[in-house]
Amino acid sequence: MNIVLIGFMGTGKTAVGKRLAKRLGWKFVDVDTLVEVSAKMPIAKLFSERGEAVFRRLERRHITRIAHGRHQVVSTGGGAFVNPKNRSLLRASGTVVCLTAKPSVILKRVSHKLKLLPMLLGAAKPLTRIQTLLEQRAPAYAQADLTIDTSHLSIDEIVERLWQQLSPHVCKSWQYLLAHAPELSHRYGGKYIVVVENRIVASGDTQLEAYQHAPSQLVQKQDAGIYYIPLPEESLTAL
Ligand code: S3P
Repeated sequence: MNIVLIGFMGTGKTAVGKRLAKRLGWKFVDVDTLVEVSAKMPIAKLFSERGEAVFRRLERRHITRIAHGRHQVVSTGGGAFVNPKNRSLLRASGTVVCLTAKPSVILKRVSHKLKLLPMLLGAAKPLTRIQTLLEQRAPAYAQADLTIDTSHLSIDEIVERLWQQLSPHVCKSWQYLLAHAPELSHRYGGKYIVVVENRIVASGDTQLEAYQHAPSQLVQKQDAGIYYIPLPEESLTAL
């Protein structure tokens, strides 16, 4: 599984992605950086010299490859999730988190680098341009699994919020379960959880119930495991 960050420019995808990846011990992948490396030029130059279509083609190519990897925090460019192919690949590859912010906040955050942002470059009224793009992209962004409004949050606060919501679903290993026993205890204490490929796919009051809640094609995998999550006073048990 991966964690995929989507959303408009200036919402913190890259800074949040880097910190979250470090915390999870996962690889951080930035689609825009990969595009720049493969095109051997910055994005603004790529847009002006070769056009948006070439940029989008490279973006799609990298997303197709990245979507087959695991244990990555992926930061995408603001327009990537608008493309239906990118969207279905990214959605199938993991949990998609959309970072949003109010148009005025976005403008404030990007105003020092407008020249580097081809989608805003040349707009007589950048705020109106941001609002229009946000409206156009809203149906695509709405398909994320989770949305966080970052307008009033610092990068650390966004990371903390994501960590609270996502970490129980991205267990790397038994060691992870041990390290996070208190949080898991709080959420699943006294229950059984089924873990497949490092994520919790089901829970239940008995082993049988937990297995019955898990999709059968998943529990047949070799790396499926069932764990009893103790109440705070008990200790973690592998079954
Ligand atoms: C774009 C956003 C940029 C970059 C390119 C196009 C967009 O990425 O991919 O300039 O269409 O919104 P960031 O969102 O990381 O700035």
